[in-house]
Amino acid sequence: MLKVDHLAVRRGSAVTLQDVSLTLAPNQTLAVVGESGAGKSTLINAILGLVPCASGQVTWNAKPVRTCRPALVMQEPRSAFNPRMSLRRSVMEPLHGRSLANDRLAHLCSGLEVAADLLDRRPTEVSIGQAQRVGILRALIAAPPLVLFDEPMAALDAVTQKHTARLIAQMQREEGFAALIVTHDLGYAAAFADNIAVLRAGRIQELTAARAFAEAPQTAYGRTLRDAAFSLGSLERVA
Ligand SMILES: Nc1ncnc2c1ncn2[C@@H]1O[C@H](COP(=O)(O)OP(=O)(O)O)[C@@H](O)[C@H]1O
Ligand SMILES: [Mg+2]
Repeated sequence: MLKVDHLAVRRGSAVTLQDVSLTLAPNQTLAVVGESGAGKSTLINAILGLVPCASGQVTWNAKPVRTCRPALVMQEPRSAFNPRMSLRRSVMEPLHGRSLANDRLAHLCSGLEVAADLLDRRPTEVSIGQAQRVGILRALIAAPPLVLFDEPMAALDAVTQKHTARLIAQMQREEGFAALIVTHDLGYAAAFADNIAVLRAGRIQELTAARAFAEAPQTAYGRTLRDAAFSLGSLERVA
């Protein structure tokens, strides 16, 4: 289980995260929402150990998080890959030369709807949706118990977002990883996450069960975020 305990992170003189506490168990999804600059990516980086904690602790089963070899899925799928390498080579990288059960690659490809020949292409030769599914494939290849997603759907069109969200949920049911997903999409968070953490200016404003959040956020700021997310469809056309 992931445990973030009173975490603070400083960037230079600025405090980017303060008093952040949360837990995340296998098979569970935590959506982290909040406006740009709230500290969402910093939280992911602190969990991965890429930025130091000024105070507090981040652990996986009471050990440093790196011991569980967590995986990261980034927003911009194509730039996440080395442009000079085939996708297949990139996908295999997290294994560090270890061999893979024969059917695991085929199984993951079929689960993520990645056609086998796609892996022989380079990142620029696939669509952005395909690239993101390959990004998820690479994240899952070594069966990490913890997967961090930093706005995984943000670069995709609405239809592809929905499709990708379903595939992630399906893979999670099969593989059982704990998922922390940073997202701007509260509809997605409400539909797919177990819990929603609202981050604002480096602090958790509320941490609510996803179902409850959709109906009744606990804070005024949570309501603002929710209402903003669901009001776009009712915007009136200008002229
Ligand atoms: N590498 C960095 N160096 C200094 N400050 C940073 C760095 N990355 C992010 N920040 C600052 O930390 C705050 C949180 O940024 P970030 O975690 O990227 O927010 P979010 O992902 O929610 O948009 C912002 O004020 C940002 O300017
Ligand atoms: Mg970010």
